[in-house]
Amino acid sequence: MHTTRQHQTIPYPVIRRRTISRTYTKAGIFFPMIIALLLGLKGCGGPQGQEDKREQFVDSLLSEMTLEEKVGQITLYTSGWTITGPALDSNYRQYIIDGRCGNIFNAHTVAYNLELQRLAVEESRLGIPLLFGYDVIHGHRIIFPIPLGEACSWEPELARRSAALSAKEAAASGLNWTFSPVADLSRDPRWGRIAEGSGEDPLLGARFTAARVRGYQGSDLSDKNTLAACLKHFAVYGAPEAGRDYNTVDLSMRTIREVYLPPYKAAVDAGIATVMSSFNEINGQPATSSRYVEEILRQEWGFDGVLVTDYGAIAELIPHGVATDSAHAGELALEAGVDMDMQSGIYMKHLSDLVKEEKVDEQVIDKAVKRVLRLKYDLGLFEDPYRYLDPEWEKTVVHSQELIDHSVEAGRRSMVLLKNDVVNGSPLLPIKEGPARIAVIGPMADNRIDILGSWHAAGDPEMVVTVSEGLRKQFPDTDIRTAEGCDFYTGDKSGFAEALALAAFSDVVILAIGENYVQSGEAASRSELGLPGVQQELTEAIMKTGKPVVAVIFAGRPLTINWISENVPAVLWAWQPGSRGGDALADVLSGEYNPSGKLTVTFPRNVGQIPIYYSPRNSGRPFNPHDKYTSKYLDVPNEPLYPFGYGIGYSEIAYSNLNLDRNEISFGDSLQVSVTIENRGEYVAEEIVQLYTRDLVGSVTRPVKELKNFQKVPIAPGEQKTVTFSLHSDHLKFYDIDMEFVAEPGEFEVMVGPNSSDLLTARFTLAD
Ligand code: BGC
Repeated sequence: MHTTRQHQTIPYPVIRRRTISRTYTKAGIFFPMIIALLLGLKGCGGPQGQEDKREQFVDSLLSEMTLEEKVGQITLYTSGWTITGPALDSNYRQYIIDGRCGNIFNAHTVAYNLELQRLAVEESRLGIPLLFGYDVIHGHRIIFPIPLGEACSWEPELARRSAALSAKEAAASGLNWTFSPVADLSRDPRWGRIAEGSGEDPLLGARFTAARVRGYQGSDLSDKNTLAACLKHFAVYGAPEAGRDYNTVDLSMRTIREVYLPPYKAAVDAGIATVMSSFNEINGQPATSSRYVEEILRQEWGFDGVLVTDYGAIAELIPHGVATDSAHAGELALEAGVDMDMQSGIYMKHLSDLVKEEKVDEQVIDKAVKRVLRLKYDLGLFEDPYRYLDPEWEKTVVHSQELIDHSVEAGRRSMVLLKNDVVNGSPLLPIKEGPARIAVIGPMADNRIDILGSWHAAGDPEMVVTVSEGLRKQFPDTDIRTAEGCDFYTGDKSGFAEALALAAFSDVVILAIGENYVQSGEAASRSELGLPGVQQELTEAIMKTGKPVVAVIFAGRPLTINWISENVPAVLWAWQPGSRGGDALADVLSGEYNPSGKLTVTFPRNVGQIPIYYSPRNSGRPFNPHDKYTSKYLDVPNEPLYPFGYGIGYSEIAYSNLNLDRNEISFGDSLQVSVTIENRGEYVAEEIVQLYTRDLVGSVTRPVKELKNFQKVPIAPGEQKTVTFSLHSDHLKFYDIDMEFVAEPGEFEVMVGPNSSDLLTARFTLAD
């Protein structure tokens, strides 16, 4: 089901549009109730006045609703999904008309949603407009890099802009709600959905998640360029046992709070409008009926927006083993504070009866309904239910140049150069003008689907610039030819001969390989992380031709590429860069853009090292090569293949002079930490300078390093710059032995450098 939802490659059918009035005031028959309410509430000014006005409106509307209509407002259905475009099951149409379904997802395009909105507004008794949700995860029709790739820019502002542009395009396509951002931190690349988050680090995850919320929602939900965002998946979905999607999560509360919750919390602090509960159980409780919703999300963090389930998740409380039947499942979810039922239909089927049987208090339903009505109010839907449904605006915004330009910019900023050896006297990359012949070999060479990554949803393959197209534009005088060599899956080597012949004929080979778009993402866990299919064999065969080879790897997760890393002279990690991936890649390979990305997730050497991350605790027997009885493997080093924070560019950047303005601070004080960086190369660079600390002795054990801050600094060739960070005692806080969030006095290390492994170190004391 979920993969077909992404297979949307064929243009939408033309949907007959009836003539409708575009504003309530022009409408004759519909919406009498709401009009009356809006008119009656005129004249309340100021923010408090606005809020009072909204509450009065919502209360009055609620008082007019039957129990069935209330349940309708907390019901969300998919419009269905076929490869020719969205199609609404006739039942759902009737549900909308009957006021039994107040929210739809997987329906988009103005023509289509206008039709549905008209049903809700003109044909249902109360005329309450629909919410239209959709998985706008990294762009809508024009696709940007997968979120994990984008995070490798270490530029939350870039992510904010991606989200803002996605919102603009999606809202112009008739949507008002996106199921994004994904705040799920993950340290397990077996889990395919690692592609959707920001990586393994809480600080980075929090900054990116908050930026995306701000991007989607802007400062006014009723602006026609913004969407309501949905934080997902609450909570700790990114740590399933064995990396298998939907599987059990069982972690200490300390780790949950310290590592996994900060990105979710950051989204709430940034004003997220809605939250989605996750499929997994956490420490014995399925998220959809978990007390964490009430205790952490609502009471502790003060979230008062809509909490929606994930797809059919209320029904899953039965196989989870906490509900006897679907009525019981509905009861548990509602009691836990889950406002809206996505797709299980259980609220619709059972809540009215449960109220009559006095198993559920109608006031709990009222609370949930009010949250939904408030959201519709904030989106401006009661004022104008067609505000996101303007066909002219859709034509202006969809596919527009600013989206295309941003796709190139975000794509090139997300790529990470892992290796660039000297070949024939100079680094292989960038490819300067001149090679007479370039061979582009591999299943990504001419590919316009997989470059979009998972959850490209409504992304348009026809707007894609492929790898070969990008290179041809960049090198118009070069003879550029392509050969697929093999596919992503099978053992079929019949394309090898052609690929080898092409390599032999060329001056440089660009090997465009990796994962296709369904090999990561939802329900795409893998137990082996090598290149899928026979791509490894293809790579080895191409290397034997003796030609200079650049491996460009497209993937939704880290892969175990030890052989490539040892044997191929240049390796660029392109993630899945989106619609203009070919242009972005050409900019990087040609040196028009000096790659600046750094990994936000550790690359393991093999699956046995997982979970592997830069911030483990030390153990009582840290690795010592001379002592057998220390924490290590017999068959693989402890170190990863590439550490968190790693990435190189075309200029060498040297670090020196780590300096602290003092060696001791008190609680409430800050310390200035500075370092000198120097661009020793010929290319303008942007260096991501990273600051880590280590709390040497604590009431509980502390990680060997924790990222505390970072800066991306432009630096010209030959330039030296001093980069300064302010480190406050609050940055040293953690959950102590009593689970209090405090800093403890004592000695700390502060480390600054280009990645989590190569660091300059100094010490300071936090005085008692
Ligand atoms: C995914 C969610 C998504 C939802 C709606 C689920 O399977 O887990 O991330 O938002 O489907 O499409």
